Amino acid sequence: MRTAVYPGSFDPVTNGHLDIISRGLKLFDRVIVAVLVNREKNTMFTVGERMEMISEATRNMLSERIEITSFDGLLVNYVRERGADAILRGIRAISDFEYEFQMALMNRKLLKQVDTVFMMPDERYSYLSSKLVREVASFGGDVSVFVPGFVEKRLKTKCGGRPDV
Ligand code: PNS
Repeated sequence: MRTAVYPGSFDPVTNGHLDIISRGLKLFDRVIVAVLVNREKNTMFTVGERMEMISEATRNMLSERIEITSFDGLLVNYVRERGADAILRGIRAISDFEYEFQMALMNRKLLKQVDTVFMMPDERYSYLSSKLVREVASFGGDVSVFVPGFVEKRLKTKCGGRPDV
């Protein structure tokens, strides 16, 4: 049984994240989507809301092989606790590479048996990020091609007032 932890902020989940989850399911028997409980960062959605949106968005995928959880503190501690084999991350463009490379090597230094597997999302999502989605939505822009319909609705509700992007 090969298990990957797919960590992230997922604020909110985008079609790019969903693309990586479905690709991850082809390589791993189980994908644990782990939402970071970030105490410093002001997120638009609470951890509970973010997990709920990922659950809803993955309902029609091989959901018995996907687990949605949250983690606090060091990622490697969570990976160790869950006995996972790898960390799964998406790489969209060269600009992601440096940060991801640093994180992957640091994580491997902290937990030597863990490797990070990078997957490229469909090129339609190569410029997509949760941050941009929040920003576009906050100014009333159309994000319907970037997130599932129900996430778009939740963004609209949140953006009734001017959110902190
Ligand atoms: O979606 P994001 O914000 O790019 O995800 C970043 C994340 C959650 C993978 C990263 O910030 C993380 O792993 N944070 C947990 C704390 C930690 O382990 N930091 C050291 C990483 S080398």
